[in-house]
Amino acid sequence: MGDAEGIGLWAASAPVVGAPMAGGASTPELVAAVGAAGGTGFLAGGYATPEALAEQIARTRGLTGRPFGVNLFVPGPDDADPDAVAAYARTIAPEADALLAPLGEPRWSDDAYPAKLDLLRSDPVPVVSFTFGVPAPADASALRAAGSAIVVTVTTLDEARAAVEAGADALVVQGAEAGGHQGSFDDAEERTAPLLDLLAEVRAEVRLPLIAAGGIGDAAAVRKVLAHGAAAAQVGTALLRSPESGASDTHKQALADEVFPGTAVTRAFSGRRARGLVNRFLGSYTAEAPAAYPQVHYLTGPMRKAAAREGDADRLHLWAGTAYRSAEERPAADIVRDLAEGA
Ligand SMILES: Cc1cc2nc3c(=O)[nH]c(=O)nc-3n(C[C@H](O)[C@H](O)[C@H](O)COP(=O)(O)O)c2cc1C
Repeated sequence: MGDAEGIGLWAASAPVVGAPMAGGASTPELVAAVGAAGGTGFLAGGYATPEALAEQIARTRGLTGRPFGVNLFVPGPDDADPDAVAAYARTIAPEADALLAPLGEPRWSDDAYPAKLDLLRSDPVPVVSFTFGVPAPADASALRAAGSAIVVTVTTLDEARAAVEAGADALVVQGAEAGGHQGSFDDAEERTAPLLDLLAEVRAEVRLPLIAAGGIGDAAAVRKVLAHGAAAAQVGTALLRSPESGASDTHKQALADEVFPGTAVTRAFSGRRARGLVNRFLGSYTAEAPAAYPQVHYLTGPMRKAAAREGDADRLHLWAGTAYRSAEERPAADIVRDLAEGA
């Protein structure tokens, strides 16, 4: 696929992109449902083994003939402070104990990024998107030579410039309202730019198609980002409660539970800033959580798995964007059609 065709994806009949959501929410069924409504779905390569990702790609192809994308996490440096991680492990140990879960081994990992790139080079998909950084020039050119369009998530104008430099065909412009991890290349500073401000800033300088993400929950919000120069709107939280979403029932129910007062950004669950519903764990440990991704992700993993299984919404990462109250329990294709209405 050349650039023009890749860019044409964002002008699909519904200018809505189903966000990649790692950890189980993005399923082949969800990708197919987004495609059935004329949008573009994404599989989440983050945390998946290359084998599991290959299987998801094959299953998606069996369910839909529509173009779809695969998202990868660009690995960061192995620079977490082991003492800070050990201190945090001691602090949160009682929470894991309460669920009879062990603490996980806090290790660095490249998330099998090179093997996933190999997979996508040998078995290309229409779009490959990157989060937490830019692909190396050689990797980007190999993927483009294989026929994939390249998309990079950015949270600042500087990141947008770096993505252009790296040869991106389109950018996901992620505002501070977004659910899940902030896609920043560097997690040192919290990204606080609201989506429309960031979009205007990037639009003024960058000529690539921009996919706006963060806090988009209804058709009016989609129309607004399109009016501000976006080629499409990317939604994550809006799809989480659909039957096609693989989010846990505990997560799905929490999104509709009035007990949660809102969302906040925290490193408490993974060691990297992410927005989720304010539950007890987030409220108790955000101040102490170190900048240590993915070490803290692995440390809290068994506790979070047990919490999801046991229906314990207070010890689970309940990723959610600011518009989570509009997330509905409806088929994903209906949600996408409604979001695209009037666009
Ligand atoms: C549960 C969940 C998991 C996510 N996982 C990923 C991911 O694997 N890769 C990625 O680029 N973005 C991920 N995101 C962020 C989305 O791509 C997108 O920026 C965000 O969902 C947009 O904000 P919204 O949730 O308010 O719609 C995730 C978001 C959520 C809610």
